Amino acid sequence: MTVPTKNTKLLNWVAEVRAMCQPDKVMWCDGSKEEYDRLMQEMVESGMAIRLNEKKRPNSYAFNSDPSDVARVESRTYIASVKEADAGPTNNWINPVELKKTMKKLYTGCMKGRTMYIIPFSMGPIGSGIAKIGVEITDSPYVVVNMHIMTRVSPKVLAVLGEDGDFIPCLHSVGKPLAEGEKDSRWPCAPLEDKYIAHFPEENLIWSYGSGYGGNALLGKKCLALRIASSMARREGWMAEHMLILRFTNPEGKKYHIAAAFPSACGKTNLAMLQSIVPGWKVETIGDDIAWMKPGSDGRLYAINPEAGFFGVAPGTSEESNPMALATLNKNCIYTNVVVTGDKDVWWEGMGVECAGGTDWKNNPWNPGSGEKGAHPNSRFTAPAAQCPVICEDWENPAGVPIDIFIFGGRRTNTMPLVHEAFDFDHGVFLGATASSEPTAAALDLGNVSLRFDPFAMTPFIGYNAGDYMQHWFDMGQKLGDKAPRCFYVNWFRKSKDGRWLWPGFGENSRVLKWMCDRIEGKAGAHETPIGLMPLGGDLTLDGLDIPAEDWEELMKVDKEAFKATLADIEDYLKKFGDRLPVKMTDQLKALKAV
Ligand code: GTP
Ligand code: SPV
Ligand code: MN
Repeated sequence: MTVPTKNTKLLNWVAEVRAMCQPDKVMWCDGSKEEYDRLMQEMVESGMAIRLNEKKRPNSYAFNSDPSDVARVESRTYIASVKEADAGPTNNWINPVELKKTMKKLYTGCMKGRTMYIIPFSMGPIGSGIAKIGVEITDSPYVVVNMHIMTRVSPKVLAVLGEDGDFIPCLHSVGKPLAEGEKDSRWPCAPLEDKYIAHFPEENLIWSYGSGYGGNALLGKKCLALRIASSMARREGWMAEHMLILRFTNPEGKKYHIAAAFPSACGKTNLAMLQSIVPGWKVETIGDDIAWMKPGSDGRLYAINPEAGFFGVAPGTSEESNPMALATLNKNCIYTNVVVTGDKDVWWEGMGVECAGGTDWKNNPWNPGSGEKGAHPNSRFTAPAAQCPVICEDWENPAGVPIDIFIFGGRRTNTMPLVHEAFDFDHGVFLGATASSEPTAAALDLGNVSLRFDPFAMTPFIGYNAGDYMQHWFDMGQKLGDKAPRCFYVNWFRKSKDGRWLWPGFGENSRVLKWMCDRIEGKAGAHETPIGLMPLGGDLTLDGLDIPAEDWEELMKVDKEAFKATLADIEDYLKKFGDRLPVKMTDQLKALKAV
């Protein structure tokens, strides 16, 4: 085996991990097609991967996870800062020395019978000023092929690293060593109590053990690009956010850039690829999950998408809801936990096409009449971003795009109106910081909560104290001054008393985006209400939309009593931040209570 680097830190780390994990083999990954094809072939032979119909889905594969390993596990995710107060009340914390001791025990011998893959990757265009280099060591070939799509894996990364360049070490194991002669399971993983998704923010270090799924295992994504990056961003004066980025161009060719933060499974991928129904206005996708943003030399805030692919929710993705996502999926994709049909195509609930049956996500024979879901609600596709028909020509521009509008929001069947605008940036930070949402299938074990506060959709992804994080938002606003993006809050998910969606959503959301752009230009009206500025009485055009007047009224209704109750909940929630709660948050709350 040739070792493709002379980087001292990397070589030392690889030697250390190898001695601890005791793999049978070691492989340095280069991100090549040959490597991808070979690993897929091996996984098809071992029974882990299913090769899909070459005519219908060229170069595409399906996987079924273990039924216990289907989403992020927030209860096993840790921010192991030196001081507990620096992790704050929203994160799980274990003393880093103790956690390393526990995990080293688990890691010892954990790769027996397996290959240890070393994956050098870049988040952001390789070599660009804003990009960060990570190296993931994993014993999962599934992780390697997904990292090929989701990040930039290449020997060029090692070239940029040189002999003394720095990188973020990301150690991952599925946590299932094999005894001599033991047959591997289709999806090896460890029981819940042995799973750890650990972050050491002061050392820029990630250790993950026991899960092979999504954000638990593809460590460039939530672990590096959000938890570790958010803590670096605060130290260095930039932002790492759980946001999609899109370009919205008007009929005259003027471009607006929008970054929107919604919790997991609350509409980022859909909004990022929206098909505008407003004549002459067009959406192009820059990113669907994560934004890294830095003030530029002109004082505006510039955003890049650090990822190279989409790890998107499959169920509900249809020709009607998200045709651009569907078109992205016609080749070179990986599917996890969907139905594989008899003719080796894929299917999921809400795909908008009939299914004659096949094999469900648990790998059992399945037919649509069985009464059980064929695809897991958090089943996912992994797709190269470059394949999206509406990918923006600037999606890999290392300079990023200047953000005009921030949108915050969540999934609320009641109380929150379709849209409102913040009075100013600080009020926008208050809206973002007190956003709340109903839980989805994207995370396991959130318990029986019906609603949770989820500041900036970042609760599971802030790598430090969330009170300090809110303060960082205020500080960024101060730095950006009158160049700060305008802030809005949306809720696509309000329902009628009899349980219907009150708003058609998806493409129709372009009406709301247009109202926002028109607000910037001073072309659209808004009415001042206690909670913010709202489009009322014709400010937002509903031409051609068949929505009963009562529904619109209900959608935009702000129920005073419900809102008072919300304020009390907010006050209660904010108490837990103690002296880390920004004074500006207290001021905003006081102002709201006064009206
Ligand atoms: P993560 O990848 O987990 O971060 O999710 P996401 O925020 O990208 O959510 P996504 O766009 O995948 O949407 C999740 C679910 O919400 C899907 O089932 C969508 O069909 C549904 N959804 C998205 N946009 C809308 C909308 O405007 N209205 C309604 N009613 N549902 C929507
Ligand atoms: C999310 O949960 O926000 C995701 C999926 O984007 S995962 O990568 O698994 O975190
Ligand atoms: Mn996400």
